[in-house]
Amino acid sequence: MSELLLNMEGVEKYFPGVHALKKCCFDLRKGEVHALVGENGAGKSTLMKVLTGIFIPESGQITLESKCVNFKSPRQAQLAGISIVHQELNLMNHLTAAQNIFIGRESDGLFLNEKSINDKTLELFKKLNIKLDPEEKVGNLSVSHQQMIEIAKAISYDAKIIIFDEPTATLTDVEIEELFKIMNELKSQGVGMVYISHRMDEIKKISDRVTVLRDGEYIGTEDSAKVKIDDIIHMMVGRITYEEHKKISDNKEKPPVVLKVENMSSKDVNNVSFELHKGEILGFAGLIGAGRTELARLIFGADKKTTGEIYLDGKKVNVKSPHDAVRLGIGYLSEDRKRYGLSLGMSVANNIVMPNLDEYITAGIISEKKIKKIASEYVDKINIKTPSVGQLVKNLSGGNQQKVIIAKWLLKNSDILIFDEPTRGIDVGAKSEIYKIINKLAKSGKSIIIISSELPELLRMSDRVLVMCEGTHTATLELDQINQNTIMKYATQH
Ligand SMILES: Nc1ncnc2c1ncn2[C@@H]1O[C@H](COP(=O)(O)OP(=O)(O)OP(=O)(O)O)[C@@H](O)[C@H]1O
Ligand SMILES: [Mg+2]
Repeated sequence: MSELLLNMEGVEKYFPGVHALKKCCFDLRKGEVHALVGENGAGKSTLMKVLTGIFIPESGQITLESKCVNFKSPRQAQLAGISIVHQELNLMNHLTAAQNIFIGRESDGLFLNEKSINDKTLELFKKLNIKLDPEEKVGNLSVSHQQMIEIAKAISYDAKIIIFDEPTATLTDVEIEELFKIMNELKSQGVGMVYISHRMDEIKKISDRVTVLRDGEYIGTEDSAKVKIDDIIHMMVGRITYEEHKKISDNKEKPPVVLKVENMSSKDVNNVSFELHKGEILGFAGLIGAGRTELARLIFGADKKTTGEIYLDGKKVNVKSPHDAVRLGIGYLSEDRKRYGLSLGMSVANNIVMPNLDEYITAGIISEKKIKKIASEYVDKINIKTPSVGQLVKNLSGGNQQKVIIAKWLLKNSDILIFDEPTRGIDVGAKSEIYKIINKLAKSGKSIIIISSELPELLRMSDRVLVMCEGTHTATLELDQINQNTIMKYATQH
């Protein structure tokens, strides 16, 4: 067994109304990948923020290479050789990729010379097989590309310990493979890594040990090769969840078309046409950069199209802005909750009712009571973990923030709902809940588009799957044609 790098014991952390860590412990060996799992709000990110000097715990001991440490700032942790890829992106949109990676390292003389940071970034990108221009402004990149830059940044520090807080939530299989290759290389160099993920298959694949937290408490640590996924889930949620599969219906007659998109094009989307039926769940599959989000944003009026028509119930409509789309009954749950989905500084309740605010105003007065009541209902329905509906959204765990977005659009009651990576960062138990809700919506006659990078999610949810590759629509698969190989074939076909 290799040498112990890190040991955390008796870590206590309180937030107003929340006991986030209860005598929590964790350890990490040299050259090990240690997975950290637990439901949304279990305390995973908080524990790692304590380790990296972002949160100061009320009590607890941390030893790093047998020396007691007590980080008071992120900088101190970084100097001690600990690097973190945060769950929420922390990049500066107006800076280039290279500047984001090397910012704050002026003391090394690096920031002074654009060329040297661009060269170093290119080197890093090569290593990670990232095909991006170091001089591209981060604000122009997709969420998944931004995530790759966060990963490149964490790796660039030559740290002893690297923490990955849900690095793969926005990545597709191909990028995940690249990340795992790098992680294996880092392992052989003796780097210890903490790996947080809600994707159980990854945990078996990449980690040596797995530690489970529940409600801020340490539950146990298992050998990843030996432990069964069902047992991990059981440790996480204290109960067994089961998967419900799609059944092929005997009903051959298709319900009417509610949305028809014809020849939709923009700089990222190439002449896409498709139809969405009433009560249908249509999956959008493809690799990163395939143009799925871009297509959704064109339908929602968030970006400018160069050509294309939209028909709702057979009538041509003009969607010039998201406002038009919402008015016409189209909802879009963005993959990027920070930029488009939520007002982080506002309460859970106000975020949930935001698109519907008009309904809570009578004679110019907002009814706080009504808002609280309806918000509480949805908080219970999809199990949002928060001390109250008055809590600010920025204080919720990542997965619970995602649930707030879902609640918001559920309440809006649109006829057509586009879910872009709906379960990103959502734990296994809550995922089943969200799938159930989406299925129920479809059964009640809502028409749904799901964009997902998780193939099992598309396989499980979709009635049909539209596959895209580099902006082009390469296939539409019917229920009996939907399988992993066929999707991958069309997703990589140019
Ligand atoms: N800054 C904060 N202020 C108040 N409460 C917080 C803050 N950060 C986290 N919490 C609370 O602490 C608890 C643990 O949150 P944490 O972010 O560690 O969960 P997590 O395990 O990372 O969940 P997820 O899988 O959703 O990311 C949650 O109840 C959360 O609401
Ligand atoms: Mg988290």
